[in-house]
Amino acid sequence: MTQPLLELCDIQKTYALRRGLIERFTRKVADVAAVDGVSLAIPPGEIFGLVGESGCGKSTLAQIMVGLLAPSDGMVRYRGQDIAMLTGVHRRIYRRGVQMVFQDTHSSLNPRKRIRRTLMEALVARGLTRAEAADALPPLLAQVGLDTVLLQRLPHELSGGQRQRVGIARALAIGPDVLVADEPVSSLDVSLQGQIVNLLRDLNRELGLTIILISHDLAVVSRICHRIGVMSAGRIVEEGPPAEVLFAPRHPYTRTLIAAVPRGLESRRAQSVAIAEVCIAGPM
Ligand SMILES: Nc1ncnc2c1ncn2[C@@H]1O[C@H](COP(=O)(O)OP(=O)(O)OP(=O)(O)O)[C@@H](O)[C@H]1O
Ligand SMILES: [Mg+2]
Repeated sequence: MTQPLLELCDIQKTYALRRGLIERFTRKVADVAAVDGVSLAIPPGEIFGLVGESGCGKSTLAQIMVGLLAPSDGMVRYRGQDIAMLTGVHRRIYRRGVQMVFQDTHSSLNPRKRIRRTLMEALVARGLTRAEAADALPPLLAQVGLDTVLLQRLPHELSGGQRQRVGIARALAIGPDVLVADEPVSSLDVSLQGQIVNLLRDLNRELGLTIILISHDLAVVSRICHRIGVMSAGRIVEEGPPAEVLFAPRHPYTRTLIAAVPRGLESRRAQSVAIAEVCIAGPM
């Protein structure tokens, strides 16, 4: 078996939460387990879908994967190495290698910076000279399906779909091999959601990019993911290929999630599975 690119070993994340007045007075704190023992191995080239209800710990796990948040317990391995032990150039290789795409493009893109500047900064951070970065802009935009005229614009002058493409381009500019996309389509119209999800699938196929796609929508992840993990209350309660999870859910929570897929459950579920099967069968 190939070595996992990214591995989570029994990850825990607890937040200390002050409770009522008495506890506050006595300085007693209660711990909230946002992530409660998650283990996962993501092989290179996989699109892994993480799905679950609001508050189940998806974003906490995403931030732990990209190194924005340290776990309370457990280990994250990148290319077989414990990221907590990485220093110097090795740490920079990891921080570059695992990039995040955020849900809210309004707050994740600097409203005062033109798109050119945002992308140039990312390319320069990767180690390119300004001249090399300028040359890299057109192919970078083409990769995410954007026209170069948008480079002169400010984020608010773009549509939601265009802003999310810029968010993806900024992540790609750093030169990652893993993209952690936390609810990348949930702020978009349904018509645009499919386009962004398809873009992620194309990047996976063309660049061999490994993708963790996080969503609360089972239909979204089952479209392109090779494997799905269903999360509930800080744990992964089910894991498998989308067709298996959708048609033969083992955990009661997964059944609830399937039942929550809106608009014509049966047809949409069947459609998701059909698309997922085509994706899995197709060349990687
Ligand atoms: N900084 C924090 N301090 C205290 N509790 C937190 C903090 N961040 C998250 N939590 C709690 O941890 C749990 C998991 O939150 P998280 O944001 O990871 O969930 P999520 O699955 O991403 O939810 P959503 O679908 O709404 O984005 C929640 O109960 C949340 O209230
Ligand atoms: Mg979240």
